[in-house]
Amino acid sequence: MEDRLRSIIVPVDEEGFCKSFTTDQMDYVDTDNDDNIELNPFAFFRRFGFLVVSNVLTTDDCDKTISEIFDIIESKTPFKRNDTSTWDNFPNDGSSIPQYGSPSKPPIFSKQFLLNRTNPNVFKVFSKLLKNEDLLTNHDRCCFFRPTLMNKSFSTRDNVHLDMNPFNWMGDGEKQRQELDALTYARVGEFIVENNQPSKADGLQLQAVLNLENNHVEDGGYVAVPGFHHEFVEYFRAKKPEYESPSLNFDKKEMVFKLAKRIAMRKGSMVIWNQQIPHGSFGNKSYKPRFAQFIKMFPTFTVSKKRAQHRSKTLNAILNDNFNGEFPFTKLSVQLLGLNDYNIKTID
Ligand SMILES: [Fe+2]
Repeated sequence: MEDRLRSIIVPVDEEGFCKSFTTDQMDYVDTDNDDNIELNPFAFFRRFGFLVVSNVLTTDDCDKTISEIFDIIESKTPFKRNDTSTWDNFPNDGSSIPQYGSPSKPPIFSKQFLLNRTNPNVFKVFSKLLKNEDLLTNHDRCCFFRPTLMNKSFSTRDNVHLDMNPFNWMGDGEKQRQELDALTYARVGEFIVENNQPSKADGLQLQAVLNLENNHVEDGGYVAVPGFHHEFVEYFRAKKPEYESPSLNFDKKEMVFKLAKRIAMRKGSMVIWNQQIPHGSFGNKSYKPRFAQFIKMFPTFTVSKKRAQHRSKTLNAILNDNFNGEFPFTKLSVQLLGLNDYNIKTID
């Protein structure tokens, strides 16, 4: 297994960025064999377990998202975006996860974050890979890796993990269904619990990172173990099962950790992966920051009616509080946010 994984080479372009596809290429008619990783994004995804799609967000989308990340930090600390001498300030009061560069532990419900979650390009990539257009979007965090060559103390923790319990994933999905059905969204943190309950019974499940600034290998950020989804069952069948943890962190000494590769991407790209792929981030080693938003879309059929009601009620209340009827909803965003029952006026 180790030799098989080690022999997988991910193509990169002349600038060192991972090979990427355009959103137009997601219309590729996937009838050819799995060797056509040059033109067929689905063949690339099947082989490596992940895919980079370029220009999913515009430069303006990215800049507005970064601005909202700065807003969060500036609201909690004396950090000032235009004065790097203040960048040693980072939220560290229990409302953040500084070791992973997350300025907010709760999911973020600001305007551009929501526009990105309901962006037609993001939807296109998810729906094409899932072969399903009846999807919901999740609500998650972001991260900001400060340049460690500016200050060593800005470093984040290298990590490779799965946002699931792999032993439960291999089961019948009943445990995950119970956990998910119990969600009432009384705490906004419950939106994040959703991410960690995939099971093979629900079919392919995807996660993604929206990359908000050009991100070279040395800038730190997303890593993945290419091709691991082909080895997943064999790898975990050989391990002693444990059914309680909602996620799995690989130790630095483990083969899986050592096989993780940095995936460099351009600004506005999205990397999307099969949730069976161990992934995570390596720290910054440059003078340039890294910014990203985490996202996931999943089929509506995986959500019970009662849970969908709790979920949309909480979300509708949050959006009313934050935007007071001023959010530019579209038909697509109403669908992806699960707000079909709320008679929301759309701009299209
Ligand atoms: Fe993750």
